[in-house]
Amino acid sequence: MSDSFQTIPGTFDILPDAQSSSAGTVAPSHAWQHVEGTIRRVMQRHGVREIRTPILEPTALIARGIGQLTDIVSKEMFAFERGDAHYVLRPEVTAPVMRAYLQHHLAQLGGVQRLFYVGPCFRAERPQKGRYRQFHQFGTEYIGADDARADAETILLAVDIYRELGLTDFTVRLNSLGTAATRPAYKAALTAYLRPLAGQLSETSRERLESNPLRILDTKSEAERKLLEAAPVMLDFIDEESRAHYKDVKKHLEAAGLSFEEDPFLVRGLDYYTRTAFEIDSPVLGAQSTLAGGGRYDLLASEIGSKQEVPAVGFAAGMERLFLALEAAGIVLPEAAAPDVFVVTLGDRATDHAFPLIRAWRQSGLSVVYDLKGRSMKAQMREANRQQARRVVILGDAELDAGMAQLKQMDTGEQQSVPLSGLPGLLSAAT
Ligand code: HAM
Repeated sequence: MSDSFQTIPGTFDILPDAQSSSAGTVAPSHAWQHVEGTIRRVMQRHGVREIRTPILEPTALIARGIGQLTDIVSKEMFAFERGDAHYVLRPEVTAPVMRAYLQHHLAQLGGVQRLFYVGPCFRAERPQKGRYRQFHQFGTEYIGADDARADAETILLAVDIYRELGLTDFTVRLNSLGTAATRPAYKAALTAYLRPLAGQLSETSRERLESNPLRILDTKSEAERKLLEAAPVMLDFIDEESRAHYKDVKKHLEAAGLSFEEDPFLVRGLDYYTRTAFEIDSPVLGAQSTLAGGGRYDLLASEIGSKQEVPAVGFAAGMERLFLALEAAGIVLPEAAAPDVFVVTLGDRATDHAFPLIRAWRQSGLSVVYDLKGRSMKAQMREANRQQARRVVILGDAELDAGMAQLKQMDTGEQQSVPLSGLPGLLSAAT
């Protein structure tokens, strides 16, 4: 066994260069920057502002917010204790954002808080392609909004980000889960329908029949899906107001020209949803096909201690799954920016002389790189090529004595001898 350390399974390093590694790393850091830049731009256009909350949260916030019986809380939390305090590495960001909203009395600012985030989340799931233990979500939460336009805008925001990145092949599925008041009647009807069929259900579903029957609707098993074909559907049980709200959400999505599928069996893996629930799937992702999910969570605030109900809606999307979908769709993201100048030096004097010059050029705003290993000219030129530098400045002891340097344009190969004093002007003029 090697005694060198490795990343923990289900986590990965994000490196500057693309790697074909078994560690499941999904994209180089500049691709992350590009995607995050797009997310920020689209958010900004929607008046959505960034919120950053801690990675560590109180375990009780997550347990109460997401629901004790969910897979996330019952099986997948990275939770630990120190003294009397119970901590969890956040498995998602909605409950933390609502905590922050309540803690800082953001309601007092009036209106709707349109917030977004990008950052790591942690779930102790079995790692596989598209499913990791540390993964990254971007998402948005519209807090204080009960208007159906907020639900529609949330969905369209996710769609716009995907489209802006060039991803067009995805499906939006939509459902309404009604309110907490209408859920028991539906649960009872579903349980009554499934109980006689229990013998044909998987062990997990049989357990869920007692604990959380709605989750059975989420099954991936073909046989179970067949059994569910004649099951009662939630939409027949929801209240008039929820029905009207759902109708409005659909109306706004249609007005925006978005095609979506209504999926009466769409339920989510977190318990805080009321009314709107949606998911965005990519056909190229295989088993972990859900790019993004979200919905309305009007009861979360009360669940975590607010005296007032706070209507809210949002979505979260996996960054890693987005990269996998982009790759599968053959979408090539822009390359990392290449340096403006690579400085090649020959001889000790030239090397020493170059050091403050490079610093001055960098201070003037140029991106300048050079070799730190004292390698041969050939090796330095190879490195300049590898880094796709646009120009190379070659400084040798002899040139230095004459107050000159060689300037090479890498695209044309054209090389000229120029006075050192004129270099800053030449370099910045061509930038
Ligand atoms: P979620 O469906 O649990 O919802 O996660 C949202 C997205 O995060 C998933 O669709 C998937 O792309 C990504 N994701 C989840 N778990 C993993 C994992 N283990 N590895 C890689 N990617 C993963 C939520 O988290 C809710 N907070 C969404 C929301 C926001 N609802 C309202 N506002």
